[in-house]
Order: sequence, then structure tokens, then C-alpha cells
Amino acid sequence: MDTKITRMLNIQYPILQAPMAGGPTTPELIAAVSNAGGLGNLGAGYLTPEQLRHAIKEIKQLTKQPFGVNLFVPEKSDESEDTISQMSDYLNKYRVELGITQNPIIPKASESFYEQVQVLLEEQVPVASFTFGIPAQHIIDSLKQQGSVVIGTATTVDEAKQLELAGVDAVAAQGSEAGGHRGTFLKEAAHSQIGTMALVPQVVDHVSVPVIAAGGIMDGRGLAASLLLGASAAQMGTVFLASHESGAHAVYKQKIVSSHEDATEITSAYSGKAARGIRTKFMEDMQQFSGAIPAYPIQNALTKDIRQAAAKANNPEYMSLWAGQGLRLASERAAADIVRQTMDQALNLIKNLKYEM
Ligand SMILES: Cc1cc2nc3c(=O)[nH]c(=O)nc-3n(C[C@H](O)[C@H](O)[C@H](O)COP(=O)(O)O)c2cc1C
Repeated sequence: MDTKITRMLNIQYPILQAPMAGGPTTPELIAAVSNAGGLGNLGAGYLTPEQLRHAIKEIKQLTKQPFGVNLFVPEKSDESEDTISQMSDYLNKYRVELGITQNPIIPKASESFYEQVQVLLEEQVPVASFTFGIPAQHIIDSLKQQGSVVIGTATTVDEAKQLELAGVDAVAAQGSEAGGHRGTFLKEAAHSQIGTMALVPQVVDHVSVPVIAAGGIMDGRGLAASLLLGASAAQMGTVFLASHESGAHAVYKQKIVSSHEDATEITSAYSGKAARGIRTKFMEDMQQFSGAIPAYPIQNALTKDIRQAAAKANNPEYMSLWAGQGLRLASERAAADIVRQTMDQALNLIKNLKYEM
């Protein structure tokens, strides 16, 4: 299937496996998707420059096809010491429950955006995508100059227009059904929750670069619908979380394949930034907290030890279980089967459209 995105990215099918930071997007998953004709994407937001280079080298050994790497555009957060220590004290009850040390020193982020970008340039990655904002002009320019296709993430038409103005080659339009963090960067997250069905055609009408639909797309019906809405590809996250090659924790995978469309909620309890995930005890309990939740990335750093201890104890209630609203359509399969089945179903639907309606 030939679209603006398949031509631009030099791939066979208009299917992007969403970048998913935090472990799910293993080199094996990325390579399996790229080798099957889609575009595998590494969620590298939390990786140190060394880890990032290592992962890229591993991907290159597993596939000769194009692949992408995704980074978080950094944002400043200046929370008061009071807000931070109030939260850290509150979180101690979970630490007690999980048997870990109380009041940890906030770990300094080990990832550095500019060094991460340097790795992308040196490794000449085929596709570089960004979320949480617009990278500085010189970053977009140098990535494009060395041959990378640059993709930005938008949750509103205004964000898409600003990304286009900054020179990105394509825009991922992320609807509110989407799992994981919202890419919102202009307005409050609560005012930027537009469903994929409404967002995609409006973005398509207001930018001239190709649009990639994301959020709740789980199969060929979602892909066909995205193309009919004017998108040139679909970016799918949740469906690949349950794949054999995904690095998601076993308990998390189990939750993905057994939860329903009403199981998720958008929360900032885990990271200080709005993200959609399966409802947990931690999310519900944090609603009782009367203070302010420190903004990303501080809250993310504050809860890191809790999430890690919960994962070790196979306790999903304190883990972040990012997932979109398409949950009932997820099943454990090989990533290549997801690409092939999605493509077959979409092609069949498009071919038979006039007879089915
Ligand atoms: C576990 C998880 C982690 C994610 N991490 C990232 C990320 O690092 N960068 C990014 O641009 N998007 C990230 N996303 C959002 C995806 O790019 C995409 O918008 C979303 O998965 C689409 O919705 P779906 O999950 O319903 O398919 C993540 C999504 C999930 C489920």
C-alpha cells in the first residue's frame, strides 16, 4: 500500500509501532515490525546516551529496514522544596508497604536531551520523532540535513501547525484514546483531549505535511478508518504492548489482554504529566492527596523506586500500566502477525467498502 508516509519513510505498509519509553520497545520488537514492512520505533526518552547508542546498534544488527527513535523534548520544572518534600513524605506509605527505603534522594535524571540528539546524528537514524514539544530549530535542521525524517507529536490543530512551521516532515496526531503520556505542549492537558476521529481530519485540513493517526487503533478497521480520515499511516502502541517481542512486564501484559475499554483513565499521579493508563490502586489513592503533584519530570523521579519495587514484587497496583482505550482488541501475538493481520484486514475492508456499507 502506497501512501505519503510509506514513500517518505521507505516502508512497505503504513503501520508504525509506537515508540514506548520504559522498556516495551525492545530491539527485537522494533526489528520484527520493520522486517514485517512497518516502522518499528524505539521509545528512548528515558535512556542514557550510552544505552541509546547500544540499543540502536542492536536494532541495526537485527534489521536492514528503516526504524525510528523517539525522544522527549525537555521542559523546565521549578517546584518548591516544600511541594517536593510534601509529596515525598506522602509517598513513604507506599515505600513502607513495598519494603523499600523511605525518603530517597531524588535521583538526578541520567538522560540528557542534547547528548541523546548527538547519538541520533552520529548513528544516522532513519527516523527521529519527538513528543512533549518542539525541538530547537538547529536540532530539526541538523537531523534533516543528515537524512533523518523528523516527526513531531500534536494533540491539537494548533500544535500541529506549530510543528509544521518548525519544519517537521510529518505530524503524529495523538487522539485522547491513546495510551501513555499525552504529547500536549501548548495548552493544559485537560483542554487538549480530542478523540482520534475528530482530531485527525481537522489536523489533515490544517497542515500540508503527512499526518499519522494515533490513539485507539488496534486492527485493520482502525487503520482503514485512519486512511479514510485523511491520515497517511497509523501509529499503534497498545496492540504491540501485548506482542511476544514486547518488553512489557508479564503482569502488565496480562492486564493488557484482560482489561476492557472502560479500564483506563488519564492521570498525572505517576509522573506529573497527563498519561492514559489502566486504573490502579495508586491512581485512585493519589486522588486523596490534598497537595500539589510536582510537575514532570520531578514526580516521575519521585515515584521511580515505588514503580520498580512494585514490578519486582509482581504487584500491578503500584506500577504504571500505560494503555489506550482499545484494550479489548489486544491479544498476545507475534509482532509480525499484528502487522500482517492489520494490513490484510485493512486492504480487504477498503476493497470491499462499497459492498459492506
Ligand atoms: C506504554 C506506552 C508508552 C508510550 N511512550 C511513548 C513515548 O515514549 N513517546 C511517544 O511519543 N509516545 C509514547 N506513547 C504514545 C504512543 O506514541 C501513541 O500515541 C499511543 O500508543 C497510541 O495509542 P494506542 O496506545 O491506543 O495505540 C506511549 C504509549 C504507551 C501505551
